[in-house]
Amino acid sequence: MSRTLDHLLDRNVAWADAKTRHDPEFFRRMEAQQTPHYLWIGCSDSRVTANDVLGLDPGEVFVHRNIANIVHTSDLNILSVLAFAVEHLRVQHVIVCGHYNCGGIVRALSDERGAMLDHWLQPVTVLYRKHRAVFDAMAPHVRLDRLCELNIEMQVRRLAATPIIENAWARGQELHLHGWIYAIGDGLIRDLGPHLSSISERDNLRALDECVLAPSTPVIRAHRPAASCCGGQCGGGHDAG
Ligand code: CO
Repeated sequence: MSRTLDHLLDRNVAWADAKTRHDPEFFRRMEAQQTPHYLWIGCSDSRVTANDVLGLDPGEVFVHRNIANIVHTSDLNILSVLAFAVEHLRVQHVIVCGHYNCGGIVRALSDERGAMLDHWLQPVTVLYRKHRAVFDAMAPHVRLDRLCELNIEMQVRRLAATPIIENAWARGQELHLHGWIYAIGDGLIRDLGPHLSSISERDNLRALDECVLAPSTPVIRAHRPAASCCGGQCGGGHDAG
């Protein structure tokens, strides 16, 4: 095993060369400022990298990632990223993008406990346990798909409840929240909704518990790529566009 990472540094040089071959000013422009329009809140999973799956260049998306893309309102990291993105960069869209087969959600569905990770995953675990009868009536693969989707629904709601987002909406800032899910198996993102652009849209949103209880097929098994949770009854103003 090599002690150094020269192969990675070599790849970096090759990448930078390729970037400037057709656009010699690329990195000088980057240095001057960053003006991304999007904040991506995603999972740390190595297969779900925001710039790659969106086909975006450096500078185009501001990124926060953690295990299972959870919005903990006591997490100084996500709050700092969110505040900077909304108040300083003035992004217009905040995207919570989870993914199917998320290891964090697999863990939350298991009965194993005691790792640090289980503290982190507690909101998902609590949702699962609260509705365990509903989830356990599903086939295992459907249960996992649904909890991956519902976790995103939950995190969009938690995001919309943060004072950072509330204050932005209250002062009339244009800011849209999105809930997306990525399928590692085909590389495609599905739009789960809800789309939230104001305090009133947030307040009119269907409660998460109702989403859990509504009969629903996981989006990946029903439609692709854009659809909505709860068959579109979530009140989130879903729009495939
Ligand atoms: Co994951």
